Amino acid sequence: MKTTHIGLLGLGTVGKGVAEALSHQHSVVIEKILVRCTDRYHADLPLTTDVRDILENPEIDIVVEVMGGIEPAHTYLVAALEQGKSVVTANKEVIARFGPELMTLARQTHTTLLFEASVGGGLPILDALTWHLRTMPIHAIEGVVNGTTNFILHQMEQGMNFSEALKRAQNLGFAEQDPSADIDGWDSARKLAILSGLAFHTWIHPDQGQVTGISHVRSSHLQRLTRMGFGMRLVGRVERHPTSLGFVVAPTVYPLGHRYLTLTGSQNAVGIVSDAGTTWIEGPGAGGLATATSIVSDIQRIRFMIPDREPIRFENRRLDHIDDAYLVFAEDPNQILPIIPETLKSGPGFLILPFPLPPEEGLVQYRYRAK
Ligand code: HSE
Repeated sequence: MKTTHIGLLGLGTVGKGVAEALSHQHSVVIEKILVRCTDRYHADLPLTTDVRDILENPEIDIVVEVMGGIEPAHTYLVAALEQGKSVVTANKEVIARFGPELMTLARQTHTTLLFEASVGGGLPILDALTWHLRTMPIHAIEGVVNGTTNFILHQMEQGMNFSEALKRAQNLGFAEQDPSADIDGWDSARKLAILSGLAFHTWIHPDQGQVTGISHVRSSHLQRLTRMGFGMRLVGRVERHPTSLGFVVAPTVYPLGHRYLTLTGSQNAVGIVSDAGTTWIEGPGAGGLATATSIVSDIQRIRFMIPDREPIRFENRRLDHIDDAYLVFAEDPNQILPIIPETLKSGPGFLILPFPLPPEEGLVQYRYRAK
């Protein structure tokens, strides 16, 4: 088979994972790697600081973008597609914001744009939505799609404080350059928007959604919850309503033993609810080699000319809120006022409050789901 030449944009945690994973593949060579400054890397690598060495290089067949951030990544992806090069990207920010127009551009230029690594790191979720479940009407997608917050919440359950847990997640290469995207829920919202685009043909703008992060969670909250038989994860859900989509990302409380609470480290789990039941996909959601797995799989898909997904006609639907019961913490970490479904209010100390709850200073609200 003809050798495929790759232009790699970025050599951070994921870029290094891609270089490592590609070194084990036959007939795929990295022709050039774009970095900001060559001093930090091994002199044998085919580095460049000039993106034209990749975008205008006729040898290069596929551009792999792992720089992250909107610009200049978006401009480079557009230029690569316009140059007739196929693109593989892990960039959820760019895909969530510009997915439909980049897909249109790829069709117009007879190139392929694949982005499996943009959601769930090493999990084949987009593949499952595009191929495996393509004949099934999908009702909802729900899951833990951010490894950093999963890691932090899990560490905090063990007693570590928030900033130490975040520092560890950064050292392990899970967190975004600006970790507030993870912590405040926007990384999850972007991934959910991409899943919604493929599952419901409706491209959501994440910043219009109901998005809450975990910056207000304290280890004392988590330890108190554990003692009560509950745990918390940052969960996103998008569900199809008759004329709208429900969309929420929020720290959510579950009874101990729930699937999400068994996720450790940077693991992700996504459930796709269709007529066939719920298909669960679970595994490493962040980190260099995990994400590289999805990127190399997209490269091989392009090499073997497996057809890209069919053109999607995107529809307009309005966004809806998803209402749940809420647990409310007062500023005093020992005080929890849970609003829970009637059937579950048998535990001691539960107080049913009116819903929705008026905003009140000193109160922190968490969604509660019984499932
Ligand atoms: N910061 C992301 C996460 C990386 O923690 O899940 C993978 O998308």
